Amino acid sequence: MEARVVHALQNRQVLLLCVFLGVSWAGAETLRYFVAEETERGTFLANLAIDLGLGTGELSARGCRIVSDKTTGFLLLNPLTGDLLLNEKLDREELCGPTEPCVLPFQLLLEKPFQIFHAELWVRDINDHSPVFLDREITLNILESTTPGATFLLESAQDSDVGINNLRNYTVSSNVYFHINVHDNGEGNVYSELVLDKVLDREEVPELRLTLTALDGGSPPRSGTTVIHILVLDINDNVPEFVESLYKVQVPENSPVGSLVVTVSARDLDTGSNGEIVYAFFYATERILKTFRINSTSGNLHLKAELNYEAIQTYTLTIQAKDGGGLSGKCTVVVHVTDINDNPPELLMSSLTSPIAENSPETVVAVFRIRDRDSGNNAKMVCSIQDHLPFVLKPSVENFYTLVTETPLDRESQAEYNITITVTDLGTPRLITGLNLSKVVEDINDHSPVFTEREMILKIPENSPLGITFPLSNALDLDVGSNSVQNYKISPNSHFEVLTRKLSDGRMYPELVLKEELDREEEPEILLTLTALDGGSPHRYGTAQVRVEVVDSNDNAPEFGQPIYKVHIPENSPVGSLVVTVSASDLDSGVYGIISYTLFQPSEDISKTLEVNPVTGEIRLKKQVDFETVVSYEVDIKATDGGGLSGKCTLLLQVVDVNDNPPEVTLSALTSPIPENSPEIVVAVFSVSDPDSGDNGKTITSIQDDLPFLLKPSVKNFYTLVDVSGDGTLSHSYQYEVCLRGGSGTGEFKFVKPIIPNIQAQSSGRNSEENPTFRNSFGFNFQ
Ligand SMILES: *[C@@H]1O[C@H](CO)[C@@H](O)[C@H](O)[C@H]1NC(C)=O
Ligand SMILES: *[C@@H]1O[C@H](CO)[C@@H](O)[C@H](O)[C@H]1NC(C)=O
Ligand SMILES: *[C@@H]1O[C@H](CO)[C@@H](O)[C@H](O)[C@H]1NC(C)=O
Ligand SMILES: *[C@@H]1O[C@H](CO)[C@@H](O)[C@H](O)[C@H]1NC(C)=O
Repeated sequence: MEARVVHALQNRQVLLLCVFLGVSWAGAETLRYFVAEETERGTFLANLAIDLGLGTGELSARGCRIVSDKTTGFLLLNPLTGDLLLNEKLDREELCGPTEPCVLPFQLLLEKPFQIFHAELWVRDINDHSPVFLDREITLNILESTTPGATFLLESAQDSDVGINNLRNYTVSSNVYFHINVHDNGEGNVYSELVLDKVLDREEVPELRLTLTALDGGSPPRSGTTVIHILVLDINDNVPEFVESLYKVQVPENSPVGSLVVTVSARDLDTGSNGEIVYAFFYATERILKTFRINSTSGNLHLKAELNYEAIQTYTLTIQAKDGGGLSGKCTVVVHVTDINDNPPELLMSSLTSPIAENSPETVVAVFRIRDRDSGNNAKMVCSIQDHLPFVLKPSVENFYTLVTETPLDRESQAEYNITITVTDLGTPRLITGLNLSKVVEDINDHSPVFTEREMILKIPENSPLGITFPLSNALDLDVGSNSVQNYKISPNSHFEVLTRKLSDGRMYPELVLKEELDREEEPEILLTLTALDGGSPHRYGTAQVRVEVVDSNDNAPEFGQPIYKVHIPENSPVGSLVVTVSASDLDSGVYGIISYTLFQPSEDISKTLEVNPVTGEIRLKKQVDFETVVSYEVDIKATDGGGLSGKCTLLLQVVDVNDNPPEVTLSALTSPIPENSPEIVVAVFSVSDPDSGDNGKTITSIQDDLPFLLKPSVKNFYTLVDVSGDGTLSHSYQYEVCLRGGSGTGEFKFVKPIIPNIQAQSSGRNSEENPTFRNSFGFNFQ
């Protein structure tokens, strides 16, 4: 308010001054008028009539006008009144530029009579221009660390006004780094320079903008401004510095190779190469070098290999940033590998009970463990089975579970359950593992196999080929599955084994296999025990009897109890006497075992002598045998069975001699009488014989002791009787009786008996009583 009042007052003063000047210069040599530039058109300047001392109307009468070289028309003269008015607004700067004073000369011309007056219009400056800088911005590059006191010359501003209205002063916006020095070069030129007051730090203040104000001397002063843009130039006075000294990043383990882990960023406050940073690992381990790579320019840390949370959870890397000037800084990057639910839960079955017996109370069906290699929620698991099953899962220690029956099971209502154990982890995405247990609700092995036929009779011909098979009836078992019949066994025996065969419907039946030949005669019937075993534990079993009847074939010939029958029969045994009973047997049965006996190819003599009872085998005499005729018979006897097979035996029939023949003496020669005194004279030559055999045929020939004769055995039952008297002569004539004894007790005797009264014949009589075979004590035997 106050300033405005002052301003208005000043304007009026100028105007008043002009008017005053306008009237104060009249006449004289040169008329001088003053006007301030920018004065309004029509402004009264002076009254020329008065200034020239002319009367009113004289000017017009004399033909008065204003003449000027340069400027015409800026003044207007009223010839009637003589008033000189400003015809246009004047701009001093346009009319005179920097020239001061700004004088516009003009002439006042009077034509009648001609008279010329010189006049001047002085245009005075007013402060109507502000200082102006040619550039809107002045740029100054100043190295940081420049020593305070350094000066920087500034561009000058221009001001069209002159004199006091021209530039007078410079100021700079307030700041801590610079002040301004204003100099006057003495020619009215004012210039300025910046003076550094404080060390610049580019890193702290990389640039400054100051406002430079140029002030003129007007009142009030006018001003113009420009901006001083100060760029602080870098020197490598800074080490690269990481934005963060510790980067903690979490990287999912399934991140693909090449993916960005983190971008580390170091700053170097320096510029240019001093600020150019190269990133590198700082003493990285092999593992880190294999897993990561860093872009040296961008600081991007990338994955070079796949991560595996389950293997390594954390990597700690040191990264170095180095600037072009060799300074470096470090940071640490801790990479936490985060678990991805990349491992499905696992189900490890520890034990599994199958089948389960029906009607059992709570039974542990399965024991298993679940595990998930992930961590956190990814490793948390939920384990379940389907609803509506009579089973429950019971968690146990350390991820162990038991699957138990909830209620006793009833095989009859449901014989089988399919249980799916589902393990789900709580990770994202959910990973599920399933295990299907097919549970038979198993029937108890409460039934034994039963054969419908308790006894099976097999008729097998003897001599059947080995390996021949005989299917047998199978056993039934009310249990199912493995509790049903699985196997057949046969009691130990040498002939058969049993094979377990499978029917097309899965049932098992036994098959008997002959492994050793059957021989009815040896074993006409074989009793076997067939056992059917089920697959339960313990096994249950059922048995049946298998009676193998070996069917006969005529494979046996009759066979005699002994190959040779030796029989003695006394001669003269009566007709019909039983000689012997032969007996053959035949192991075959039936007609194959029925035997009839016959004489085998008997001679006529034998046919007449012996007969055999074909049924009983009794051999009897058909006629009497005579030892002296036939001593022995050799007879073949045949036994024939109903099948025509036969066997033979031999009967050696020895006819036993009966002592029915007395010894006989046959005289061959007899010398009688015997001349006396003849030396050793053969008295008689005789032979002794007995048709009986054996002892019955043996003879002893003897003579009495007290005779002068000697019996001399000769060849072949021949004897000579010789005279062995003392002088070799037989002086007496005797009649001798020779006593011969037969071998058999009942033998008859013939005697050659000397006719001597004292003959001793007692011994023969005695012996014959005691023993049918006797020997004379003095006799000698000859054959
Ligand atoms: C220039 O301006 C400054 C600040 O306003 C003042 O201190 C100084 O006296 C002035 N100088 C001149 C020559 O007017
Ligand atoms: C490093 O990063 C820069 C900028 O992102 C890129 O131009 C350059 O190809 C990268 N170098 C490598 C080796 O990837
Ligand atoms: C159990 O699964 C088996 C095989 O898939 C199938 O044959 C049987 O019928 C199923 N039993 C039940 C009771 O679902
Ligand atoms: C388990 O059984 C269900 C139903 O039959 C079937 O969909 C699933 O694929 C089975 N799972 C396994 C692991 O066999």
